[in-house]
Amino acid sequence: MALSSSVRVWNVFSLILSLSYGVFHIEANSHRGTPPSVFSINQPYRTAFHFQPHHYWMNDPNGPMIYKGLYHVFYQYNPKGATFGNIAWGHSMSRDLVNWALLPLALSPTKSYDINGCWSGSATILHGNKPALLYTGAGPNQNQTQNLALPLNLSDPFLVHWVRSPLNPLIAPTSENHINATSFRDPTTAWLGHDGLWRILVGSQRRDTGLALLFKSKDFVHWVKAKHPLYSAKHCGMWECPDFFPVFINSTFGAETSTLPGKDFNVRHVLKLSLNDLIQDYYLIGSYNVTRDRFIPDMGLKDTELSSVMRYDYGKFYASKTFYDDAKKRRILWGWVKESSVQKEYSQRGWSGIQGIPRSVWLDESGKQLVQWPIEEIEKLRSSKPFIWHSKQLQPGALLHVPRVTAAQADVEVSFEVQDLAEKEEEWKQSGRKMTDPQRMCGEKGGIGPFGLLVLASKGLREHTSVFFRVFKLKNDSDNSTKFVVVMCSDQSRSSLDRKNDLSSYGAFLDLDPLHHKLSLRTLIDHSVVESFGGQGKACITARVYPTLAINDEAHLFVFNNATSNLKLTTLTAWSMKKARVKSINI
Ligand SMILES: *[C@@H]1O[C@H](CO)[C@@H](O)[C@H](O)[C@H]1NC(C)=O
Ligand SMILES: *[C@@H]1O[C@H](CO)[C@@H](O)[C@H](O)[C@H]1NC(C)=O
Ligand SMILES: *[C@@H]1O[C@H](CO)[C@@H](O)[C@H](O)[C@H]1NC(C)=O
Ligand SMILES: *[C@@H]1O[C@H](CO)[C@@H](O)[C@H](O)[C@H]1NC(C)=O
Ligand SMILES: *[C@@H]1O[C@H](CO)[C@@H](O)[C@H](O)[C@H]1NC(C)=O
Ligand SMILES: *[C@@H]1O[C@H](CO)[C@@H](O)[C@H](O)[C@H]1NC(C)=O
Ligand SMILES: *[C@@H]1O[C@H](CO)[C@@H](O)[C@H](O)[C@H]1NC(C)=O
Ligand SMILES: *[C@@H]1O[C@H](CO)[C@@H](O)[C@H](O)[C@H]1NC(C)=O
Repeated sequence: MALSSSVRVWNVFSLILSLSYGVFHIEANSHRGTPPSVFSINQPYRTAFHFQPHHYWMNDPNGPMIYKGLYHVFYQYNPKGATFGNIAWGHSMSRDLVNWALLPLALSPTKSYDINGCWSGSATILHGNKPALLYTGAGPNQNQTQNLALPLNLSDPFLVHWVRSPLNPLIAPTSENHINATSFRDPTTAWLGHDGLWRILVGSQRRDTGLALLFKSKDFVHWVKAKHPLYSAKHCGMWECPDFFPVFINSTFGAETSTLPGKDFNVRHVLKLSLNDLIQDYYLIGSYNVTRDRFIPDMGLKDTELSSVMRYDYGKFYASKTFYDDAKKRRILWGWVKESSVQKEYSQRGWSGIQGIPRSVWLDESGKQLVQWPIEEIEKLRSSKPFIWHSKQLQPGALLHVPRVTAAQADVEVSFEVQDLAEKEEEWKQSGRKMTDPQRMCGEKGGIGPFGLLVLASKGLREHTSVFFRVFKLKNDSDNSTKFVVVMCSDQSRSSLDRKNDLSSYGAFLDLDPLHHKLSLRTLIDHSVVESFGGQGKACITARVYPTLAINDEAHLFVFNNATSNLKLTTLTAWSMKKARVKSINI
């Protein structure tokens, strides 16, 4: 890729600085490279405020960070087409995590050790505020190695040019270290131990055991494999994109990645693993024993069914990664939301893959799960005049059209109150059985529900995506006690008349007591993505949908109650959303 002087970069930067926060007034150039000829056709599925490049294939988010007040995110990118291949590091930058400037590729396959792809990795801010990227090179025969790239010019806040270490590959599978050469990838952000050594994890597998391999280094260049992995578990196959980070107890503030458990502050640790066999992200909460360099989860992958292990998102959300935002003292989660359509369709559309809205993430006060919420900056895109309902009774079978909102591009918050829960004996009679699989419970009879939203709905409801709750009463056979269980669901079975799309439905338990809490739902609707947050971020489900009728102005939004009893809608607020700016910077 031809790159000219960084002097112009500086000029553009001064321009940005002189303008108001979060707004890019940069001259957009035409698309880099040649866009596919189909790109100009009607594109009802392109998103308005979820990040996606102008065209071609994108998968995992890589190396998110903040540097000199600018947010950077890199991503697995095919600069030549809308299918997986030629994987390079795309690079974008933002002042607000909402509007983005597209920069030249940060890394593309050129060296023998990454000739088959510059695969996923992470950013670490080294001493003296120096960012460093560690990434996986895919070499001949998919031999995977870990490599380092540093900025050419630390004074350039855009960090446009990256230079590989001459000592690459820094970590390679050999006959001595017994690392599986084709299952060795995705280094984490590094953290510092009390001994001053940097530590990283790299995902791996041996037979069907997933491994979070641990490496240590004094200088970030020479890495030594620790005797034991930080964590491993049988029967789950290859672990991609591990992420390991501290969270504060009883605080929504994020903790810097090198924050260790100590006397003065209470931290716990989170280990996230992306299970390659399932294309799903799971996380564990536990203790990090710094002296032994082991992670001890409260409830591990070893001792439980996968279905009871927590996930960031119970829909389409994979290869996620967090970073610590020291400007706002928060931890932010990025995740790839892949397409649900067949390859032929997305290659014709000329693009594939979006990123979820970045989410703030913190430990729930129960200590048992994480909570996620879309970054506050996204609210800047909300229209100034939302549509609001207060305190409405919803009769059984109610279906209410929500007017005056651009339903294909909206942010909706709604909450419900299930009244006289204890007295609904009729409903509970049917819900006595054992329930362990929330996805199945979404479609079961009994209990109270479903009630929630119909989004991206066509006028006659031939197409709609329903996001809803159901409440069940569960009996515990060992002591005959009962408790209420809430499931949150996203049903895509009627999302599109085009049956070639993946129309699976998703369900999750929502750890809330419906006797004492309202059931709240926030849904970000963006043309082909429906990203939902239940219980103020305790359960999240993201779906990709491709309506054929309910597109643009033909999309509608409804509230529904299909329970057999009355329900109170406490509030509903629906905002039309503006479009985020995504522009190429001409450098
Ligand atoms: C992988 O590549 C590295 C150097 O690029 C080399 O040292 C190592 O032996 C290779 N491993 C395998 C298993 O091919
Ligand atoms: C480094 O970047 C700064 C700011 O963009 C610029 O002024 C300077 O000329 C650059 N230095 C080199 C060697 O390119
Ligand atoms: C090494 O990784 C490959 C996948 O790339 C897997 O098929 C194979 O079983 C692994 N080998 C061992 C010994 O775990
Ligand atoms: C870490 O493990 C060591 C060795 O098992 C143990 O003695 C120590 O108490 C553990 N530390 C913590 C903080 O649990
Ligand atoms: C958070 O604080 C509440 C109230 O003091 C307490 O009940 C809860 O156990 C704390 N959470 C954790 C994870 O310690
Ligand atoms: C059922 O009750 C027993 C005894 O009180 C308790 O140990 C167990 O955790 C309960 N199970 C559930 C799923 O709540
Ligand atoms: C639970 O209820 C059943 C049927 O009513 C009864 O037979 C059983 O003894 C009860 N168990 C406990 C632990 O109370
Ligand atoms: C609600 O009930 C009606 C009538 O039984 C049914 O046609 C519709 O599919 C239900 N909607 C949802 C989202 O369950």
